[in-house]
Amino acid sequence: MKTATSKLAINGGKKSVPEDLKFHVWPAVDKDDEEMVLASLRQPSHAWGPNCVKLQEEWAAWNGNKFVAATNSGTAALHMAIAACDIGAGDEVITTTLSWTSTATSILHHNAIPIFVDVEWKTMLIDPAKIEAAITPKTKAIMPVHYWGVPCDMDPIMDIARRKGLHVIEDACQAHGARYKKRNVGTFGNCAAFSLNQNKNFCGGEGGLFCTEDEQMHVKGRALMNFGEMRAPEANRDFHAYGMGWMYRTSDLPAAFSRSQLKKLTATNDQARANWNRVHKGLAGVPNMVPSFSTADQETNGYAYVVRPDPAYANRRGVKIGDLRDAVVKAIVAEGVNVGGPRWMLPAHTVFQAKNGYGHGCPWTCSFARPNISYDLSQYEVGTQCMESTIWLSVNTHRPPNGPEQCDAVIAGIRKVFENIDEVPV
Ligand SMILES: Cc1ncc(COP(=O)(O)O)c(C=O)c1O
Repeated sequence: MKTATSKLAINGGKKSVPEDLKFHVWPAVDKDDEEMVLASLRQPSHAWGPNCVKLQEEWAAWNGNKFVAATNSGTAALHMAIAACDIGAGDEVITTTLSWTSTATSILHHNAIPIFVDVEWKTMLIDPAKIEAAITPKTKAIMPVHYWGVPCDMDPIMDIARRKGLHVIEDACQAHGARYKKRNVGTFGNCAAFSLNQNKNFCGGEGGLFCTEDEQMHVKGRALMNFGEMRAPEANRDFHAYGMGWMYRTSDLPAAFSRSQLKKLTATNDQARANWNRVHKGLAGVPNMVPSFSTADQETNGYAYVVRPDPAYANRRGVKIGDLRDAVVKAIVAEGVNVGGPRWMLPAHTVFQAKNGYGHGCPWTCSFARPNISYDLSQYEVGTQCMESTIWLSVNTHRPPNGPEQCDAVIAGIRKVFENIDEVPV
């Protein structure tokens, strides 16, 4: 017999999140943000202005990078990293199966070819043990993604890269301040990219940061930023394109907002981690649920909390894991907790399944490319199971300015659904 409190809201029970509980929207915007943005408006350089230059310096100091270029997106910063590593037509870059699309499409943007390596079930991060088998004579770089704000296991990845003479490009777009063995991500590989998009721990509305320790790579990456002109945006122009160019630089207003958010990043990351840990502790021991991953050596920045229904439970119940996940999402939402079921598996996107690059089959049919590259999904069994089972908590449930009260409501809603998972209609 179900009590009033254990009957699921989706089955007519009482919601576990109180109606009057307010969830706060990320990011918190305060007087300092307003003043920085107004000051930007009141000065004359609205394209590449003083805030852009300062943002580069301040991020370099905060994260421990030598050279930083402030871009208009993380995607742009990733593409610049590909160019900086001299990766060209038909070259291959090894990356993970689970990430946001631009991880892989930034490789295509330079006519190169992404090769996907499956993830580990526990971490949902690229499985270092599977990387070597994917290396071919065309491989030029490995692009690990610190997915969900959790650092990849960088020691074995860097070891493979050193032994095989490959570059490493860190996709740190979700991972500002995530730490591998106490060191900030974005400082391990040859280059790194961060995103300053709305949802990220470090938000500038939109924006990105291309980082490297190598001056030559900085120059090569930055060449894409200003129409192919080989110059820093602040230098004198000769209005001459020296190579392929895009328009990837940021502008003063988002840079001003970013600088003001950066001043608070250490504190907001601390709070995001505290919230993440509270949710993690509160969900400990929940049956039929796989919790998020973070350890002392691979320490989350608190970017995202994700849970998965255990596929073994789906098997026992005789339902497909994807159908169970969708049903659990609906049940948790009915309890008043905003969650979603992302399907972010890179090789499953049509761009790879149909090989829709530049048209005419390019870059896969390019004479420089290795023939018959396959994106058959049976190669990515673990990634497929992660994609079908992942439940993502909205940033506006557990990210600051939300605190213990909201985290406890999130815990209550998720706990209730998993503890009564037999009652979830699938
Ligand atoms: C892992 C990852 N890579 C790349 C990007 C692209 O960043 P942006 O949206 O700033 O272009 C994102 C953004 O969500 C991301 O999460």
